[in-house]
Amino acid sequence: MDDLRDKYLAAIAGAVDEAGLEEVRLTALGKKGEISLKMRELGKMSPEERQVAGPALNGLRDEIDTALKARKAALADAALDERLKGEWLDVTLPGRRRPAGTIHPVSQVTEEVTQIFADMGFAVAEGPQIESDWYNFDALNMAPEHPARQEHDTFFMARAEGDNRPPHVLRTHTSPVQIRHMAEHGTPTRVIAPGRVYRMDMDQTHTPMFHQIEGLAIDRDISMAQLKWVLEEFCRAYFEVDHVELRFRASHFPFTEPSAEVDLRCSWEGGQLKVGEGDSWMEILGSGMVHPHVLSSAGVDPTEWQGFAFGMGIDRIAMLKYGIPDLRAFFESDLRWLRHYGFSALDMPTVSGGLSR
Ligand code: DAH
Repeated sequence: MDDLRDKYLAAIAGAVDEAGLEEVRLTALGKKGEISLKMRELGKMSPEERQVAGPALNGLRDEIDTALKARKAALADAALDERLKGEWLDVTLPGRRRPAGTIHPVSQVTEEVTQIFADMGFAVAEGPQIESDWYNFDALNMAPEHPARQEHDTFFMARAEGDNRPPHVLRTHTSPVQIRHMAEHGTPTRVIAPGRVYRMDMDQTHTPMFHQIEGLAIDRDISMAQLKWVLEEFCRAYFEVDHVELRFRASHFPFTEPSAEVDLRCSWEGGQLKVGEGDSWMEILGSGMVHPHVLSSAGVDPTEWQGFAFGMGIDRIAMLKYGIPDLRAFFESDLRWLRHYGFSALDMPTVSGGLSR
């Protein structure tokens, strides 16, 4: 009995890991283990012998079992210590620098424009990018045969087989938001609607997806003079100059009457854009007095209400203000470009605190 005890206690003390320890357990206490077999022999003994050997064997088994458990716990502690040593971390070290993200020029300019118009009492409206052709065209006084409809190079959504209704489109401009907004909120109203628009076009100044901002002001006595003032105020604030000069050029849009394209006086001397001086004119937006048919489409009585609307390319005015030459690079997700032209996330543009810095 003493030999067995010495042998197994030594083996337990010598086990260096859990697997080794388990091996010792099986050799001693497993089904065919040495001590288990000895216990089975108890049956063959005389009652007198059994009375001595039984308790002794039980005692030995318990002793070995206890030693096994203690060793197992010690091994686990040692393993944990070892792991903690490996995972040790000096919390006093300086933090690792993370790559800084930037705000995309389109987001920056959208925010700048929104701030400027918010300052003049315009709320922000939104509409869906997948639009019915009624909202995108018909409601805006562009009947199916209207030539302007062809000029939009529209992306059409697929139709289910046998569905003969006109297909939905990827909106070609933000103008349908005028209809949705007036139909839902009525008049008077003053909103801008920034967002993505889509046309089949691709070159240095066109991409199939781009951004526009729509403006709409409806009341009983809104005039073109107010349109001019609002746009002048906008240009002064946006281009961050004291003086601007706008030129209204007669034009045609189906959704406005009269319609005007608006040019901004500027100079390109030395390849550098200067707003408010020089002899060049740069077209920046389309505008006009909202057509009575458009008001009617939105459920607004054109004998009672009138107002102006305008539409402007966000990407284009971003390129102008920040001297970005190629529109396609806006949407290539090139990190070098984004770092160069991006804006700090911490500098929120505000009219009072400064727009671009
Ligand atoms: N929707 C026009 C376009 O996509 C832009 C536009 C012109 C919007 C005149 C207007 C407007 O609201 O009055 O080119």
